[in-house]
Amino acid sequence: MSKSAAIRFVLDGEVVEINDVDPTRTVLQFLREDLRRTGTKEGCAEGDCGACTVVVAEVNRDGDDLVVRAINSCIQFLPTLDGKELITVESLTPNDGSLHPIQRAMVDEHGSQCGFCTPGFVMSLFALYKTNDNPGRQEIDDALAGNLCRCTGYRSIIAAAKAMYVNAAQGDDWLTQPGGAAPDRIAKLKALRRDDSLELEYHGRRFYAPTSVSELASIYKQNPDATILAGGTDVGLWVTKQHRDLETVIYTGGVPEMCDVRVSKSHIEIGAAATLTDAVPIIVEHYPGLEEMFRRFASPPIRNAGTLGGNIANGSPIGDSMPALMVIDTLLLLRCGDVEREILLDDFYLDYQVNDLQAGEFVAAIKIPLADENAIVRSQKWSKRFDQDISAVCTGYHLVLQDNEVASFRMACGGLATTVKRASNAEAALHGKVWNEASIEHACEALVNDFRPISDMRASGDIRLRACQNLLRRFFFETQGDGLETVYSYGRQR
Ligand SMILES: Cc1cc2nc3c(=O)[nH]c(=O)nc-3n(C[C@H](O)[C@H](O)[C@H](O)COP(=O)(O)OP(=O)(O)OC[C@H]3O[C@@H](n4cnc5c(N)ncnc54)[C@H](O)[C@@H]3O)c2cc1C
Ligand code: FES
Ligand code: FES
Repeated sequence: MSKSAAIRFVLDGEVVEINDVDPTRTVLQFLREDLRRTGTKEGCAEGDCGACTVVVAEVNRDGDDLVVRAINSCIQFLPTLDGKELITVESLTPNDGSLHPIQRAMVDEHGSQCGFCTPGFVMSLFALYKTNDNPGRQEIDDALAGNLCRCTGYRSIIAAAKAMYVNAAQGDDWLTQPGGAAPDRIAKLKALRRDDSLELEYHGRRFYAPTSVSELASIYKQNPDATILAGGTDVGLWVTKQHRDLETVIYTGGVPEMCDVRVSKSHIEIGAAATLTDAVPIIVEHYPGLEEMFRRFASPPIRNAGTLGGNIANGSPIGDSMPALMVIDTLLLLRCGDVEREILLDDFYLDYQVNDLQAGEFVAAIKIPLADENAIVRSQKWSKRFDQDISAVCTGYHLVLQDNEVASFRMACGGLATTVKRASNAEAALHGKVWNEASIEHACEALVNDFRPISDMRASGDIRLRACQNLLRRFFFETQGDGLETVYSYGRQR
């Protein structure tokens, strides 16, 4: 297959072509340092603050619409823009120099003081407008969960979010931003589609963007020391924070079959490169008890780039998806060259950030069994902040009751050991027992033998264990009465 060595994307209606660039250069560095487009800010350089938020548009699979999403430019590598449209805060400014309706709403509602966070908020609001006709308060809160403001407070910014819809209803033409109306922009992006795959080399650093899973398998088999890159929300920080030199990077985002999410007769099959934004709604439709955990998983810009495959492969002991996926017997489809095998997620982790992947082997897909209608499945996330925070403890439960006796109970926890791990003593303590407070107390005692958590800046070992016991008690109470109503929500509007 032929290879192309130029990154091409659309910015303000023009095709930008870049031939000679470090493939781990971030979109933010490119904007600020190369183009001197300094509207996009750098706050944290690790995906946390949202000052660097930009919007990326790409043509949907059917080829008839644009998918518009906010991302954190500070941790996105430049080659991942290939074939897409980049929209920055400068792109929104009308040709006559007047304020864009979102900027006007921010001014009118006093949503800006020092202004450092403002471009990021404007871009998150732009993405919200493009994806939601009529958001309620919770949807506005969720859309802004990845943007921090240290001066203004959020009330006036939320008022601006509401005002932008009023401005739009008064006749602002949201499509005549630079780049033109949607059909023209779709045509422009379709013209960028490539038959070949992107392959860059820069001073010994290489970047491959294969376009099929067999090509990916073959490149990785030949380069088993390469870094697989999916959404880059973990890998990006290795470069921006740890200053690691990634010699060879293989990007999975251009492999269409790995970006698919489908439901078969027995499983939800999620390609390892499907974004969390694409995968989560389908998981939650089948497992509503996981809704809160996924809602609180990072922020929209992180979920727009980050993948379930990356979360699982990264294998952090505080990764949020794994406790729940473990208890519902999720399978991983692994591939090395032409050889595929399946493994239970429960058997995948061997030690701290060590997993069962062999040299040149990667996660091709995640297979989640369809829900058992007799089972109660739930995940709880315990962190210092409600939004955009890493868990101190995260739990997953799978419970089947028969006549109020425990026919089957599975529980897994993150944040209590070197890997996400099943609580086998607590599980055994509950098996066959009456589902009541006394049995839960026995299981809480058994949890002490399951885990010896360490102390760190998020919580001491003692507190983690007590929190885990309390979460199990909370799960019990949530199964009483009318169902899985969340007991508290950190003061956030629901
Ligand atoms: C601000 C911020 C907030 C976050 N909040 C949360 C949170 O609340 N909960 C949480 O769990 N995580 C959180 N994360 C971590 C991160 O977003 C998740 O782990 C995410 O799912 C990683 O997916 P990715 O596609 O970005 O992975 P990448 O960064 O692309 O890759 C992560 C790792 O997986 C490997 N990898 C990726 N795909 C494959 C594959 N197909 N086969 C083999 N290896 C592969 C990579 O080589 C790398 O080792 C946060 C990160 C940031 C920056
Ligand atoms: S600079 Fe803070 S999220 Fe990118
Ligand atoms: S206005 Fe200063 S940080 Fe938001």
